Amino acid sequence: MPSITYIQPDGSSRTLDVPAGTSIMQAAVSNDVAGIVGECGGSAMCATCHVHVEPGHDAALPPISENEAEMLDFAASGRQENSRLGCQVLLTEELDGLAVRVPDTQV
Ligand code: FES
Repeated sequence: MPSITYIQPDGSSRTLDVPAGTSIMQAAVSNDVAGIVGECGGSAMCATCHVHVEPGHDAALPPISENEAEMLDFAASGRQENSRLGCQVLLTEELDGLAVRVPDTQV
């Protein structure tokens, strides 16, 4: 079971162990992690699951699709080099220990 840590804008953090195949967004929404909305349900149509991925697992992250790239340009807090849509990254054993920063705002 991969673990993932969500770091809030105030520096507080929460680590969850989730079944492999769960997305960063699903894991957050199912466990009431603040700041990740997932309004469109995971179809890369809303960007309310935007996160900034901490370094360390770059090689294991799935590539950014064209759809994801386009939607990231609409992220409310602004796109950064390490921006991803949480719904488009499924957690795998290779991503065990991944940490993501939750942006200040999603809307
Ligand atoms: Fe809507 Fe990820 S949940 S883009």
